[in-house]
Amino acid sequence: TFIVGDNCVKCKFTDCVEVCPVDCFHEGPNFLVIDPDECIDCALCEPECPADAIFPEDELPDDQEVYIELNRDLSQVWPVLTVKKDAPDDADKWNGIKDKLEHLEQ
Ligand code: SF4
Ligand code: F3S
Repeated sequence: TFIVGDNCVKCKFTDCVEVCPVDCFHEGPNFLVIDPDECIDCALCEPECPADAIFPEDELPDDQEVYIELNRDLSQVWPVLTVKKDAPDDADKWNGIKDKLEHLEQ
């Protein structure tokens, strides 16, 4: 599966959702996750993310391992998103800031 990692938090550009052939992105207040049981590992989403926040699970940086469980758990409760929407006004300001887990709203 592919995993949405830390840099999506408060960036949420949503370019990723448009290319997913199986509609497995789910949307929370300021973050997106991938349902690992639906993802077919097509890799189309990874280059679409302006924040470089999407990784194949085996290439996820070690300090972001908590996001494996977050993608699995939150994809079960958040609704599917398939159409791109406007990013938060301050998305560019947050792009590249490290360790945003404390800002992830559930
Ligand atoms: Fe969707 Fe493919 Fe990305 Fe998986 S790798 S989330 S199937 S676009
Ligand atoms: Fe997040 Fe990147 Fe998609 S910032 S919403 S994973 S395009």
